[in-house]
Amino acid sequence: MPEIAAPRGTRDILPDEFAARRWLLETHRNVVESFGYRPIETPVIESTELFSRGVGTDTDVVEKQMFTFQDRGARSLTLRPEGTAGVLRAVLSAHLDQEVRPVRVHYAGPFFRAERPQAGRQHQFTQVGVECIGERSPELDAEIIEIAWRLFEALGISGVQLQVNSLGSPEDRARYRAALVAYYTPLEASLDDDCRRRLHTNPLRLLDCKRDAALVERAPVIWDSLESASRAHLTAVLRDLEAAGIDAIRNDRVVRGLDYYSDTVFEFWHDLLQGAQSSLGGGGRYDGLAELLGFPATPATGYALGVERILILGRALGTIPAAEPAADVLVCSVEPGQSEAAADMARLLRGSGPRTVLDVAERRLDRKLRNATRIGARVAVIIGENEMASASAVVRDLDGRNQQTVPVAELADSVLRILRGSA
Ligand code: HAM
Repeated sequence: MPEIAAPRGTRDILPDEFAARRWLLETHRNVVESFGYRPIETPVIESTELFSRGVGTDTDVVEKQMFTFQDRGARSLTLRPEGTAGVLRAVLSAHLDQEVRPVRVHYAGPFFRAERPQAGRQHQFTQVGVECIGERSPELDAEIIEIAWRLFEALGISGVQLQVNSLGSPEDRARYRAALVAYYTPLEASLDDDCRRRLHTNPLRLLDCKRDAALVERAPVIWDSLESASRAHLTAVLRDLEAAGIDAIRNDRVVRGLDYYSDTVFEFWHDLLQGAQSSLGGGGRYDGLAELLGFPATPATGYALGVERILILGRALGTIPAAEPAADVLVCSVEPGQSEAAADMARLLRGSGPRTVLDVAERRLDRKLRNATRIGARVAVIIGENEMASASAVVRDLDGRNQQTVPVAELADSVLRILRGSA
């Protein structure tokens, strides 16, 4: 029978990769919590409507990338392609915004999009993100951008480019959409099928058309469609970022792939990531989303970052910490008859701190000691016939290669001395 493989577009995360993931997830948690953000977790499955209404039916995500299925009651469910709609639903249905405003939350977890898999693009991927819900101010847009920026600093990831734009108010956007349609309609014949469709369904996405870069280059820019209030909002965000020492690049072409944005939008790019996968993360303000989901109007802003893409960068830049060894100590017996005593000693050692593996396999002692080195243990504790008889154990320093016999009562101290490097 053929071996069963992991589904297309998914990856197993093996033990050696966890040091890197933990480093990223824990650094993210430390940074966001230093800004007063609290954790939240929402379901991985949501009603399909959350995304069709929230993200927008004319977006690539909803049109082509969702894993949607029916539950046993014929309700349509979707594996979440993004976190913002679910987090907003959770916060507003629990009325958290009536206790404190804004509600500052952060999250991490798996997300699902059926995009063509390649390096940095998977069917199942991981995002970390924050959402700041309940207030509208440029300071909060700058705050979330600063959080992501501090994360990259804390991770030692240099060379991140922050691209910022404004999508203005709904009226600004309607004006801009009309300007784009007026510009592209006479050029319709030169567009590929996908972009011709965008002209009729979601003209803003025409700015992502790849076939003819010069066409995009000459297209109208959104700044010209923005009312003065929208311009003032973006200007204030840029001023706050400058005051925080963060270099922002104003980029008229950043329109984002999800429909819920208004005013500030941004993306983090890096030259070491290629092509469509160059975006480490992005976000922006989404003041209209709450109403689309049936809740009272509630302004909000947030970001999400792609964990796998940050790890690709961390690897390329050499900032990822080495994998952690599995254990500090390996306890083993020479003969099977001593395995109970060995188990007792392992328990005793774990109780005093060191990570301890018990090796009860029936194999020669030299094999067990080789195994100890493989799992990264620095100390081996060996129990044989003599040790059983004298309530003692052999403690071997695997780095120094010296060993001594110690009474059980002194075992933990003796092991800890070696681990602290002062044996
Ligand atoms: P997004 O730009 O669609 O935004 O996704 C954020 C990041 O998730 C991307 O920049 C990328 O790093 C990562 N990502 C997306 N799709 C994949 C994939 N197929 N494979 C690997 N990584 C991927 C959002 O999801 C918004 N919810 C962000 C937000 C939060 N806006 C406001 N609040």
